[in-house]
Amino acid sequence: MCGIVGYIGQQPAAPIILAGLQKLEYRGYDSAGICTIDGGFADVRRSKGKLQNLVQLLEDSPLQGSVAIGHTRWATHGKPTEVNAHPHQAGPVVLVHNGIIENYLGLKMELRDQKHNFKSETDTEVIAHLIEHKMIGGSGFVDAVRTSLQELEGAYAVCLVSETEPGMMIAAKHGSPLVIGLGDQEFFVASDIPPILNHTREMVFLEDDQMVVFKDGFAHFSTLAGGPLTITPRHIDWSPLMAEKGGYRHFMLKEIFEQPRAVQDTLAGRLLEDEWDVCLDNIGLSDAKLAQVRRVCIVACGTSWHSGLVGKFLLEEHCRLPVEVDIASEFRYRNPVVGPETLLIAISQSGETADTLAAVREAKLRGALAIAVCNVIDSSIARETDGVVYTHAGPEIGVASTKAFVTQLVALYLFMLRLGRAGGSITPERMMPHFTSLLHLPALMEQALLLDNAVEAIARHYQHAGDFLFLGRGINYPIALEGALKLKEISYIHAEGYPAGEMKHGPIALIDENLPVVVIALRDRHYEKVVSNMEEVIARGGRVIAFCTEGDDEVRNRAETVLYLPECSEWIAPVLLSIPMQLLAYHVSVLKGNDVDQPRNLAKSVTVE
Ligand code: AGP
Repeated sequence: MCGIVGYIGQQPAAPIILAGLQKLEYRGYDSAGICTIDGGFADVRRSKGKLQNLVQLLEDSPLQGSVAIGHTRWATHGKPTEVNAHPHQAGPVVLVHNGIIENYLGLKMELRDQKHNFKSETDTEVIAHLIEHKMIGGSGFVDAVRTSLQELEGAYAVCLVSETEPGMMIAAKHGSPLVIGLGDQEFFVASDIPPILNHTREMVFLEDDQMVVFKDGFAHFSTLAGGPLTITPRHIDWSPLMAEKGGYRHFMLKEIFEQPRAVQDTLAGRLLEDEWDVCLDNIGLSDAKLAQVRRVCIVACGTSWHSGLVGKFLLEEHCRLPVEVDIASEFRYRNPVVGPETLLIAISQSGETADTLAAVREAKLRGALAIAVCNVIDSSIARETDGVVYTHAGPEIGVASTKAFVTQLVALYLFMLRLGRAGGSITPERMMPHFTSLLHLPALMEQALLLDNAVEAIARHYQHAGDFLFLGRGINYPIALEGALKLKEISYIHAEGYPAGEMKHGPIALIDENLPVVVIALRDRHYEKVVSNMEEVIARGGRVIAFCTEGDDEVRNRAETVLYLPECSEWIAPVLLSIPMQLLAYHVSVLKGNDVDQPRNLAKSVTVE
């Protein structure tokens, strides 16, 4: 998730752009850049790392001009380096971009054949060359932008300038957000509200395939194809902090509702339907290497360990490989039996968790292959493994992991398909149902998010409980663990997750009328067994909150509370179930008046032992 800012008007543009980029700081970034058009020339400055590095660069050599574009990059394609930082330039064209272009490789090869030379690894630079190419062919800047953007597949929000049109700026979007601020003879463009709020509260939220050309103090809105467009500005009266949270009360809630988009971005460009295969461009291991793998060892901490437990079910079922899942702090001191036939998978949102990093080093020392599932490009764990499956969740601000967790589940699903195709355990014919499930997943997640009000009512009803028990079986047992962790880490209520089949071996002694028991009872291969476990709880007065499949009337009369999830493949059920689990923890925490985004005693990334 990157941040873009643009300005055109009468004021010096660079200070406005820098201030705007600082307002996007919460979106996280690993590089930043700015371009002004001054005297008909594009002046581009870029820097790796914190925004302060760019500020320093401009202090040393200031930028002039009253037209500018700026960018903070949260790398998804290509390492966070100065050369990959935006803005990107091709000839007179300079642009900044937020999104993922799925067909950039094909376009890049065509442009290379037409003698275009590329400096970066990014998909964004391809857009600049595509526009330049059309202008070389005789198109004007505006038409070149229109026709180029219509060739793109995937998501983009772009802001562009050209040396050929020094008094002009263009903005357009498809799939990524873009806000236009309407000032007096001046205009602002940003990925989000905060950079604009101090200048004007009159805003237009561009919709997909809309474009605006700013020139001579006017904003000309149109469809991407050039058709007429009537826009309705909105008056935004949010506070700056409200704006950073996108109007949500907490970052955690915003990130829960971002999950369909995060899953879409994690899937983008990776499902190759022509070859019934999966493209994982940073995996770093050949099919031959992957086919040599005889066992898998997954290491992680906390919520990431829960995603590893789900990964075990996926890999054992479809790749027929033995999978061990270990808490990293245990693995690293256990004298583990790993060697060249072992593939270690290190799962880490931050890529900096000390125990997980140590586990990677331990496994590598013993000759194992190692890959990471990571949300931060070029992080320590990403750098020290042989390859990475990046989750494209964007920066996760809330300490309690939500969108990073569900994108880990999707990344593990993608890796399972890739490993299965490389090892031959999954034939092309068997890929279609998996593709269908994954492509349908974001829409199912949107349906699950509609449960928010029902979950809030459940939270209100059970908020005073002293303990919770979460039960699940099979691939959903890790989600019982995750539901318990979410609840305890932000509401401070003690909660335990357990395999439902374990009830008789001890936990059933806990059951009484004061204990809410969340039972995952979807219509899957474990349904009957879970329902009988649920009966055991009810018979002893336990208060069952059942998560069921839509249309299941059997459970309705037995459980005290029932929540229905849309029917789905068992392999993506953990993703859907995570949503009500997260919402339950969130609403209980809010009702208790806790600091949801920064719960007591916790840090977002545990970089020490
Ligand atoms: C998740 O809700 C927790 N905040 C925590 O368990 C986290 O998952 C764990 O610290 C691992 O972090 P990582 O994914 O960045 O390695």
